[in-house]
Amino acid sequence: MIDTSGAVRAHPWDRLWTGVHLATMTGPASGIGVVRDGALASSRGRIAWVGRETDLPAPEKNDAREVVPCDGAWMTPGLIDCHTHIVFGGDRLDDFRRRLAGESYVEIARGGGGIASTVRATRGASAEELTRSGLRRVRELQEWGVTTVEVKSGYGLDLETELRMLEVASSLSVIAAADVSPTLLAAHVFPPEYRGRRKAYVDLLVEEIVPAALDQGLARAVDVFCEEIAFSPDEARRVLEAGMDGGLAGRVHADQLSASGGAELAAAVGARSADHLEQLSPEGARAMAGAGVAAVLLPGAAHFLGETARPPVGALRRAGVPIAVASDANPGSSPITNVGVILNLACVLFGLTPEEALRGYTEVAARVLGLEADRGTLEPGKRADLAIWDVDDPAELCYWVGGRPLSALVKDGDPL
Ligand code: NIG
Ligand code: FE
Repeated sequence: MIDTSGAVRAHPWDRLWTGVHLATMTGPASGIGVVRDGALASSRGRIAWVGRETDLPAPEKNDAREVVPCDGAWMTPGLIDCHTHIVFGGDRLDDFRRRLAGESYVEIARGGGGIASTVRATRGASAEELTRSGLRRVRELQEWGVTTVEVKSGYGLDLETELRMLEVASSLSVIAAADVSPTLLAAHVFPPEYRGRRKAYVDLLVEEIVPAALDQGLARAVDVFCEEIAFSPDEARRVLEAGMDGGLAGRVHADQLSASGGAELAAAVGARSADHLEQLSPEGARAMAGAGVAAVLLPGAAHFLGETARPPVGALRRAGVPIAVASDANPGSSPITNVGVILNLACVLFGLTPEEALRGYTEVAARVLGLEADRGTLEPGKRADLAIWDVDDPAELCYWVGGRPLSALVKDGDPL
């Protein structure tokens, strides 16, 4: 779990990065807060100083325990992937072949494939197996600069497997030196054993699964898939309220495949975010803005499912809704752990500027996870989670597709 405590005390700098251009992700939301010819210092895992190298205070600079010359590289905050489903059993190669042969995601789901097939594989997987495959995916994200990752449950759909998924997600933090923010998504779809008994499953969620996750402190947020093939707004609302009343942040998979009222629900309950939003209406965008709900755009899923609808980015901008971008890494709709691909799709498919996409993977993503006091920008006092990139312009992170531009990753002040 994530520790949000800790202040910076007067202490010699442990590390000082020099000769580095900084994308601080501060200032106007349309930009990335550029400081050219900068420097950044860490002390006890936190950022102690950030600014232009020529402004470095001499005593601290001279006392720094280690100096890391960066030779004109760019530094951003460690990336924050605020929406993933990277703990699961099996794969969905069979669904992939069926979709390539013409069946749709919804048809496959209605026929008992799709998410339900991953539920079968996940229920049959041990914690060790889930940890091994989840770890590989965290490492793939780390190779692309990710230092904080949200991980959802939702492939268990029974008490035991949902809790096992959350435990595995939290354990990845310790093993991989990436912070994991676990989210309970037991309201993903209806499990097969509850076919025709929808209310009984919602009762189970509200009366047993959500309280157990709360009692055991296993989740920071509660998510629901509000969609024709999943939960109605009324069903989803009961689950969200059960979690939010217990102190969890609310998240909603909203308006992805059909305009099903997800964004309006997120606004009505005061959720942290509404995610996907390909079918979002202008009224939905205004409702989100009024309630302070962020948008999380997931272009990997739109691409992989071959969807033609696009989230109304112009309406979101005009309404002033903060826009985050995430991988949605999962076996069925976005089997993608290369953040560069996601950043590129955010620009090419959804029309974000590279600056919006980068801001959406850092500063806005931190807000979606409620971690903005602690990370997401390069500012004194925040965690020294840093990504150093071998590029001449940060927009290149959205431009070269499939490359590996990361030159160093730093977690809590220490190079990984
Ligand atoms: O965010 N939309 C629902 N959940 C996932 C898909 C999960 C799956 O197909 O396994 C998503 O796209
Ligand atoms: Fe998702």
